[in-house]
Order: sequence, then structure tokens, then C-alpha cells
Amino acid sequence: MATITPIPATLIPGDGIGPEITAATLMALDALGAPFVWDRQVAGAAGVASCGDPLPPACLNSIRKTKLALKGPLETPIGGGYRSSNVRLREEFKLYANLRPALTLIPGGRYENIDLVMVRENNEGLYMGYEHFIPIDGDPHAVGMSTGINTRQGCRRIVHFAFDYAIRKGRKKVTVVHKANIMKALTGIFLETARQIYEEEYKDKIAFEECIVDACAMKLVMNPWQFDVLVTTNLFGDILSDQIAGLVGGLGMAPGANIGENAAIFEAVHGSAPDIAGQGIANPIALMLAAAMMLDHVGRLDLGNLLRRSINETLNEDKVRTGDLGGSASTLEFATALVERIKENK
Ligand code: NAI
Repeated sequence: MATITPIPATLIPGDGIGPEITAATLMALDALGAPFVWDRQVAGAAGVASCGDPLPPACLNSIRKTKLALKGPLETPIGGGYRSSNVRLREEFKLYANLRPALTLIPGGRYENIDLVMVRENNEGLYMGYEHFIPIDGDPHAVGMSTGINTRQGCRRIVHFAFDYAIRKGRKKVTVVHKANIMKALTGIFLETARQIYEEEYKDKIAFEECIVDACAMKLVMNPWQFDVLVTTNLFGDILSDQIAGLVGGLGMAPGANIGENAAIFEAVHGSAPDIAGQGIANPIALMLAAAMMLDHVGRLDLGNLLRRSINETLNEDKVRTGDLGGSASTLEFATALVERIKENK
């Protein structure tokens, strides 16, 4: 029998539905015989609850060692409180590329045969957190300010990533999404860099187009098939990736990878879903597909493909689906059916 080299990886179950979908994902990974040896850590609200820190040093040290993590969603207080642990992780490990594919798995929905990939710049833009309130006349929040920053180096890095990814995956076109008509510096530099890099390095290899973000949002609803790979700045990528998740059945179907030079963190696009947390009804597929991307990333395409195929069959042949997909299965029932499929397919 072939020996499997164990791969150390950090596991952060996360907040809200995080522990439920993580448990389901681990069931699937165990059934696959995935090579990961987990170092379990906490962050987000769970980090605050257990050690008073939304990003405990032990969690950071673990990822520094493993350079690889599977992460459930982390809660961020709205409008105040601590800064997002997700954003801090992306900064700490310079995870500049956020790769978010959206693929139709269940036929017969509003949109058939969607196969899009969002490449989102992950470290710059309006997520830098340079924000201030200016107090006037006793109102401490009389003025709210935010400064976005995009650097030439950051734009070059993500644009190269998008073109290289698209070519490696046999994609046909890269669309750069911007708002350079209004934010002429902040997103102008992004568009200018994409145009330049395309002309200099990719012109003969793949098609390229430009789209203003508001028009892109409309086109994604009217005719999403016209797009292939999209590359954009941080905030636009955040918004549009939830939109493309909606084209394939919702946030329960959308995985993501945060990739840098020295580390990679895999997660679902969605958040901690506090409205359904603790009920055992969350759809675990987004995190499972993120785990499949993680398997691809460590060179185990065989296992990544086996997981994707088994998810497909559980959904479409066994017709086991969670409530967000119109079914009645619990998270655990879906995971149990999936494990059976994995065992059959192995
Ligand atoms: P959300 O993505 O948690 O939920 C939006 C809606 O989608 C809710 O109705 C929820 O029930 C539903 N939903 C999400 N995932 C689902 C799943 N797997 N199965 C079934 N339904 C699902 O967004 P929301 O409510 O805006 O954010 C909640 C918290 O999550 C906030 O603290 C936010 O900061 C955090 N968040 C964390 C992210 C991360 O860790 N990467 C990403 C997005 C939000």
C-alpha cells in the first residue's frame, strides 16, 4: 500500500455555524483518507471567549509553522469592536489573492451551467482600515472617513496571479472590474496596471476585457455566461463574489482560498450565519469545497476530485440536500450520506 505523507495543517472551526460545518467537513476528509494532521486553534469570537483575543498568538504561531489552514467563518462585530480577524490573517500572512470559484452543481436552478472564478485582491483597497471619525459639536461621529490604498506592486501581483491562474486552468478570458471613471486613482491604478501587464505579457495567450463594477453587477444577473475569470479590487471582489455565489444556489455553495507566497488559508465565502447557528441545518458544502481546493493545493488532486464528485452525487443522485437548497437534510445527514458516497467511490 502506498504510504501517505502526513501534512500538518491548522484547523480553525470558527464561530456560529463554523463548528457544525467543520465537523461535517472533517467527516468527509476522514472518509477520503486526506493527509492532513490538524492543529486545532481558535480565533474570532471563540478566541475572545477562550483567551480574550480574537487572533491569539497560538493561532498565528500555528499557521506560521504549518503555512496551511482550513478555517470556519469568524465573527466580526459590526460598526465597532475589534478589527476583523479574517482581514488580519490575510494581512499577517500576505494572502494577497482571494480565489472564489462559482460552479453550478445542481441543475434546474435559476441559472444553468455557471462556471465563473472571482480573483479578488485581498490586502489593499478600502480594507486597509484607515478610518476615522471627526467629532463636531458634541457628535463624536459627525464625519466618517475612509482611505483606500492600492499600490502598483499590489496590483501587479494580483493581476499576474489572475492571468497565470486563468491560463493554467485553460480559461478563455480575464475581465478586470473597476470604477476608474470615478475613483481615478484608487481603481485607476488597478485598471492601468492590468492593461499594461496584458499588453506586455499575456496578449497572445488569453482574451482580456474591462468592465465598470456597476455594469458588471447588472451583466452578472442578465447574462453571467459572458464572463469567465474576473479580477478586481478588494471591496468589489467581496461584493461580487457573494453575487456569483447567488448564481449557483447561494453562499452554502461558494468556497474560497486565500493564497500568498508562504501560506494559504481555505474557507467558505460565507460568514458565521448567526441566524441559523446551533440548529444543525447549515449547508457544509462551501467549506467542503474549500477543503477540496486545499487538497488540490497540496497536490492531492485525486482526493479533491473525489470529494467534488462525491458531493455532486450526494446532491444529484441521492438527492440529499440541506434547507437552503430546497431539501430537508440536516448538516449531519448530508455529511453522513456524503461519507457513504466517498466510501463507494474510493
Ligand atoms: P453570512 O454569510 O453569515 O450569512 C448571510 C445569509 O446566508 C444568512 O441568512 C445565513 O443564514 C445564510 N448562510 C450563510 N452560510 C450558510 C450556509 N453554509 N448554509 C445555509 N445558509 C447560509 O453573513 P452575515 O450574516 O452578514 O455575517 C455574519 C458574521 O459573519 C459577521 O460577523 C461577519 O463579519 C462574519 N463574516 C465572516 C466571514 C469569514 O469568516 N470569512 C465572511 C463573511 C462574514
